[in-house]
Amino acid sequence: MRMPSRLSVLSAVVVLVGLGSAVLVWAGSDRMPGTVLEPENEAVIAKGKSIYAANCASCHGANLEGEPNWRQPKPDLTMPAPPHDESGHTWHHTDRVLFDLTKYGLGKLIKNPDYKTNMPIYDGVLSDKEIVAVLSFIKSSWPKEVRQRHDELNLKSREEEK
Ligand code: HEC
Repeated sequence: MRMPSRLSVLSAVVVLVGLGSAVLVWAGSDRMPGTVLEPENEAVIAKGKSIYAANCASCHGANLEGEPNWRQPKPDLTMPAPPHDESGHTWHHTDRVLFDLTKYGLGKLIKNPDYKTNMPIYDGVLSDKEIVAVLSFIKSSWPKEVRQRHDELNLKSREEEK
């Protein structure tokens, strides 16, 4: 058997490295590791459910129902916590927006650091995985059609990013 020439070994390596990084770029843009919700993963949902009970239910309601009259500002002009079930507008936001909002806060997202809100900032309180888990649990509670519309929203925003 003829030994492969140095050149062909080198070009095989170049091709492999090229393919590898193309796959990485693709995975990074399409799946956004660390921020993609997993509403079909039972283990993630179970974890998210207990994180929700411990960290979110006090404001957003034990059954994701939100505070009463959640559309009316409170006397101090802050907004009540909205529901996370399909009657609210949580599902109007992409995975990325929900993640950033929970981790870095609303003020950062709307670029108004002075915005007065009772929604806590979870950076340093919950890990990225825990934030993904709790949001996955929330998404898992939505009816199938709403989950599908949310998937489409994610897809559309990812296409716009390209
Ligand atoms: C101390 C009360 C409080 C706790 C605890 C809390 N939230 Fe909130 N949350 C709010 C309020 C109030 C808003 C509305 C913010 C505004 O408009 O000022 C909000 C808004 C949100 C929104 C935006 C929803 C939308 O439709 O725009 C998300 C997402 C959210 N919270 C997720 C969470 C998660 C996840 C947890 C638990 C890890 C949590 N919140 C815990 C009070 C709270």
